Amino acid sequence: MLLSFALAVLLAGIVLRSNTKQLQLTTLDDVLESADNSEYDSQTNATTKPGKTRRKEYLYRLLTNTTRSLIQMEIKARRLEENMRSIKEKTADLLWKNKDKALWHILFKNISRHISIRHEFHQHSSLRRIMQDTHTAGHSKGPGYASPLEAFRSGPREELLYVVCVQPDKTKQDYLATVDVDPKSPTYSQVIHRTYTGNVGDELHHSGWNVCSSCHDNPGLKRNLLILPSLVSANVYAVDVIDGSEMRSFNCSFPHTTHCLASGEIMISTMGDKDENGKGDFVLIDSQTLKVTGTWTNGKTANFGYDFWYQPYHDVMVSSEWGTPKYFKTGFHPDDVANPKRYGSSLNVYKWSTRELQQVIELGKEGTAPLEVRFLHDPKSELGFVGCGVEANVFRFKPNSDRKWRADKIIDVPAKKVLQDGVETELNGLMTDILVSLDDKYLYFTCWLHGDVRQYDISDPENPKLAGQVFLGGQIASNNLTVVEDKDNKGPYKQVTVKDKTLQGSPQMIQLSLDGKRLYVSCSLFSPWDKQFYPKSTEEGGWIVKLDVDTENGGMKLDPDFLIDFGREPNGPVLPHEMRYPGGDCTSDIWLADQ
Ligand SMILES: *[C@@H]1O[C@H](CO)[C@@H](O)[C@H](O)[C@H]1NC(C)=O
Ligand SMILES: *[C@@H]1O[C@H](CO)[C@@H](O)[C@H](O)[C@H]1NC(C)=O
Ligand SMILES: *[C@@H]1O[C@H](CO)[C@@H](O)[C@H](O)[C@H]1NC(C)=O
Ligand SMILES: *[C@@H]1O[C@H](CO)[C@@H](O)[C@H](O)[C@H]1NC(C)=O
Ligand SMILES: *[C@@H]1O[C@H](CO)[C@@H](O)[C@H](O)[C@H]1NC(C)=O
Repeated sequence: MLLSFALAVLLAGIVLRSNTKQLQLTTLDDVLESADNSEYDSQTNATTKPGKTRRKEYLYRLLTNTTRSLIQMEIKARRLEENMRSIKEKTADLLWKNKDKALWHILFKNISRHISIRHEFHQHSSLRRIMQDTHTAGHSKGPGYASPLEAFRSGPREELLYVVCVQPDKTKQDYLATVDVDPKSPTYSQVIHRTYTGNVGDELHHSGWNVCSSCHDNPGLKRNLLILPSLVSANVYAVDVIDGSEMRSFNCSFPHTTHCLASGEIMISTMGDKDENGKGDFVLIDSQTLKVTGTWTNGKTANFGYDFWYQPYHDVMVSSEWGTPKYFKTGFHPDDVANPKRYGSSLNVYKWSTRELQQVIELGKEGTAPLEVRFLHDPKSELGFVGCGVEANVFRFKPNSDRKWRADKIIDVPAKKVLQDGVETELNGLMTDILVSLDDKYLYFTCWLHGDVRQYDISDPENPKLAGQVFLGGQIASNNLTVVEDKDNKGPYKQVTVKDKTLQGSPQMIQLSLDGKRLYVSCSLFSPWDKQFYPKSTEEGGWIVKLDVDTENGGMKLDPDFLIDFGREPNGPVLPHEMRYPGGDCTSDIWLADQ
């Protein structure tokens, strides 16, 4: 009402202005002084009527009074508009702050409080966007998107990032940070919320959802729990805490990747047995009761565990291997790498329907520590990639005509020769994260020791082409190492400064926007390794930066105006690891084929 009234007044003002063309309507006095009779006469035809002088004066005063009122109203309306703008801004501010406070109470509380808190959470309308599952409303569909391409083409721009933050000081709690990545928001590129685990020594690492696009056909399911397995304590945090002893009772530890299944269950890969010897298995958690219901594998388990990805259309699940938790958890020991009892180098291929380990593909030395496994998103695709950590190679896997699977090295990042304390040493890339864009066009990865983020065009998956590369730190830059031999790119190996913060450490985890245009990069790998390789990043706190991507021609550019500085956190510097978007993203969701 008020607004339309103000609008009417404004309009009247404008009409008035155009009628009195030659007048400058800057102040009321101007109007009164410059108003002129002849214009009034011609408009009212008063000159042709009898008794015209008195009538003319009367009409003139009337008009002047009306003009004056209109102008006063216009001034008032402008003030009102100004006030409304400032009220809007203040309300927005308040909302954001409120969201912060309310969220504070929501996640990771004790089980007894869980139900009521979750209830409160869903009641709180200003929070809806936080756990929104964008495509649930309006469709009688379940969580997520119908297909990777639907997410790519019509998924919303990300507004929040959930980032697990690892506390290097083991007397303090790890937490989940909520980062604002909505450029329209007053708190853009800031941590707006921290959810503490309520426990120390967890080592949060990866994260996933209770349900995702693999349940898109089930309207009864809701994506409302973010699942955070902790490597060291084996606690799994959701809204509730699932105690580590539950997992150990199934002879599993060091939970790593969490994926949601079409059955509505949560599946987490584990890297150790209860005593932290190497053992690759998977625990299942009921997404309603949040109880560990058992392990997934039928029969023989793999020697080691790490990441996994399933593709039911081809009745397959592929998992990877890091090493023996009790050794790698104390740091990186180069001598362990060649020891097949301490580091894995195989891909494990399971029959999805029967849960049996059917084939172990030995990748050899170049495939030591195969880490992130990414099938192409197209649910019918039988092509996948794995980033092999130590020697920084990407292997592509696919089935042969006899349905046996094979893996071939398709990208090789050669080691560089550097001088370390005067001694010539091989510096491997250490490939830690890889990711495929939702349209299956680009593959991205990070080399945590070399310090670069790379983008490959995989439109022809047999011949990946380097399309973009950005350096964001690394060993050479951090330690001012002299490069003796560099077969590949030649830097520049300089430390990078964003918004006055010199980025310590190196690029590690990555997350791509649904439309493929923004790549977020965080720096922490695993806190004992962070301390060992990049002590300064532990002291000064980690970071998240953003690369803007040219999706047409390839190429990436560092956004100089975006920085999340985890050196300024309330409990001291922390280390950010995996990043997630509320409605699902390029590494959390797995799609099923329609038939
Ligand atoms: C003035 O007179 C003209 C012609 O006589 C007429 O068309 C016009 O409508 C009149 N204007 C007013 C305001 O009465
Ligand atoms: C114009 O306003 C004055 C005082 O503000 C008032 O005395 C006068 O009667 C008004 N004239 C008309 C035609 O309304
Ligand atoms: C859980 O409950 C216990 C006892 O009621 C309390 O001491 C503890 O602080 C609670 N933890 C959290 C994270 O709320
Ligand atoms: C736990 O798993 C390890 C590795 O597979 C195995 O050697 C050990 O016997 C298992 N322990 C129990 C109690 O099942
Ligand atoms: C890096 O090392 C070179 C010589 O190897 C030296 O000239 C330079 O000053 C060093 N830079 C820093 C920042 O220490």
